[in-house]
Amino acid sequence: MSIKDKDYEQISPTAIVTAYPRIFTDIPYEKEIYSWLESHCDTEVALYKNMAPEMEARYKLVNKLLDKSNIKQVLELASGYSSRGLIYSKKGYNYVEMDLENVSENKIKILKSIEKNIPNSLKVIKGNALRKKDFIKCEKYFKSGEPIAILNEGLLRYLTFDEKRIFAENIWALLSKHGGVWITSDVTPKKFIKSQDNALRNFNKNVSNITSRNNLNDRFEDINHVKNFFGNIGFEIVEVHKFSEVKSELFSINELNIMDDKIEQTLEDAIVVVMKIKK
Ligand SMILES: C[S@@+](CC[C@H](N)C(=O)[O-])C[C@H]1O[C@@H](n2cnc3c(N)ncnc32)[C@H](O)[C@@H]1O
Repeated sequence: MSIKDKDYEQISPTAIVTAYPRIFTDIPYEKEIYSWLESHCDTEVALYKNMAPEMEARYKLVNKLLDKSNIKQVLELASGYSSRGLIYSKKGYNYVEMDLENVSENKIKILKSIEKNIPNSLKVIKGNALRKKDFIKCEKYFKSGEPIAILNEGLLRYLTFDEKRIFAENIWALLSKHGGVWITSDVTPKKFIKSQDNALRNFNKNVSNITSRNNLNDRFEDINHVKNFFGNIGFEIVEVHKFSEVKSELFSINELNIMDDKIEQTLEDAIVVVMKIKK
């Protein structure tokens, strides 16, 4: 399959869709990041304040599992405008972010505008997560002999199963050399899309219009489908966590009171999984 960046560029505006709700959280830098986006990009996209609990839970649950892994080298794929790389590199992590060219260029400008001292250990790489040679570009920043935690939030739902397989095979190749884990929220089961539709009116319709992707056929049926799909590529799922596990830590809910039964259901149905290479 020949991989062309232009086939994926329409997904990039969704990075603004996911950055916006994080301004209703206590995650550092998110307000500054969004303010830059507002003055430099087209933010006339599907924006939902009600999405804050979901985005905050996703972000904080991934952090929690990264902390628990004790791995200090990170490759975040499709990192968008997330603040995580800046925060963890300031804590001493060796952190590499990869996203498509346009988003990475914006990200570098954002980092320069909000932080005087960007740690040397943070690298923002322009690349396509389906292209093997772009993984090799990232690999050179990692110390050999030390494991890598690979993270991603919010890309696989836009990819077909063939594309998901290519993405996962690239991760497998890197982890098989270095060891480590893959932590991802990107295993969207159909049940979650249903609860997201109930909580966020027209969200999936709007996102489908923006991306010309986001198809129901590209969703996992359930957790067994997720296990079989990644199992066939050579992964085993070692942990499954619901977003609701971090509910008590969410500023958007507990301080801003952004909550109702429908939002609560999205936190029950969305998951983050931790995968390792099968022995
Ligand atoms: C929904 S956004 C998620 C961004 C970020 N992870 C977050 O949670 O805010 C999806 C991201 O995937 C990126 N993307 C799309 N196709 C990609 C590809 N083939 N390789 C790398 N990144 C890609 C987009 O540019 C966009 O930043």
